[in-house]
Amino acid sequence: MLNMLSRIIYPKEMVIKKGSLIRIKFLIGKKAAILIGRDSLQKSEYLQKIEKYLSTSKIEYFVIKGISGDPCEKSILEISHQLNEIKPDWVIGVGGGSVMDTAKLAWSLYENPKMSLLKFQTPFSTPELRKKAKLCLIPTTSGIGSEVTNSALVTLKGIKTPIISNCFIPDIVILDPNLTLNLPNKVTASTGIDAFSHGLESYCSTLSNSLTKVYAVAGAKLIFENLKKALLDPEDIITKEKLLYGSMLSGLAQGATSVGGVHAMSHSLSSNISLPHGHLNALFIIPILKFNIIESDSVTKFLKEMSINDINVLDKWISEIMQICKLNNRWGNFSRDFNLDDMSQNIVNDICARTNPRKLTVEGIKSILEETR
Ligand SMILES: [Fe+2]
Repeated sequence: MLNMLSRIIYPKEMVIKKGSLIRIKFLIGKKAAILIGRDSLQKSEYLQKIEKYLSTSKIEYFVIKGISGDPCEKSILEISHQLNEIKPDWVIGVGGGSVMDTAKLAWSLYENPKMSLLKFQTPFSTPELRKKAKLCLIPTTSGIGSEVTNSALVTLKGIKTPIISNCFIPDIVILDPNLTLNLPNKVTASTGIDAFSHGLESYCSTLSNSLTKVYAVAGAKLIFENLKKALLDPEDIITKEKLLYGSMLSGLAQGATSVGGVHAMSHSLSSNISLPHGHLNALFIIPILKFNIIESDSVTKFLKEMSINDINVLDKWISEIMQICKLNNRWGNFSRDFNLDDMSQNIVNDICARTNPRKLTVEGIKSILEETR
């Protein structure tokens, strides 16, 4: 019953500012496992900085490298075994959504080695964490918002499955825009649009309330006002900081309210269409808004709070971002064959469809898929 309520649970601590990575220097503990992605962090100076800060605080550390792609059961299990060998009292995830979600899931198995991820599928069924370690998340993209949410996505038996636990909300979140400076423009664009859609869909969610709407609008506004600017001047640290802040605010909102039809589509399609999550969202934002606006006034209210005159202004903004980064505005060329009726049914059944302000229909989704193919 408690978990049916729209609850906002915050990280214990959030540090926001250029240079805030130095917070690592003041961690208290004995041993840390640092989980990172494939290349960029290793090539940048920031991994060395983290290592230096941990050494200063006399924390022994181990780096688990090469986390990439969507987390799956096998990769999570392997990393949890490594954590069991290292026995850290801090798990530090530094990277994009895949790294942060992997950190949450591998940590939960490290804490509960006799359990399997399949057992955690029922929302809020993960046992208590923090018996062995605490969690620190440091995002290097401005989009997914995983650093403040209670969920992590994992592919289980071929299906992308959200694992939901309030224990996933970290002990410390470090938002240092320096770490997002080297991001390729395409990644900034798709993760930025993802963050925007978190704010938009949280605002329109059937679970939203006055407080979540404040976060949703503030987050979406920061993304709307700064994403294009960041693409045109990727070294502008102030703009990058605003994107990171916007992504976190949208993340707080969506963590409390879930999202809606746009995410229902991009989750279900991701196993058949090889486009990044945010890029898929970009294709479906306008069609889903047009579908929702027929029965829900939440879309108009959101646009009004954002000082956006009408849907066409938003459509133009998305198109410009896609043009700057040469992102395709159709999904057909990136897709494996699939049955449109079956896929539309899967989308209607997706957990995010439950909080869409208008009931999704197979016919409605099918026509959006045809229109954007
Ligand atoms: Fe998303």
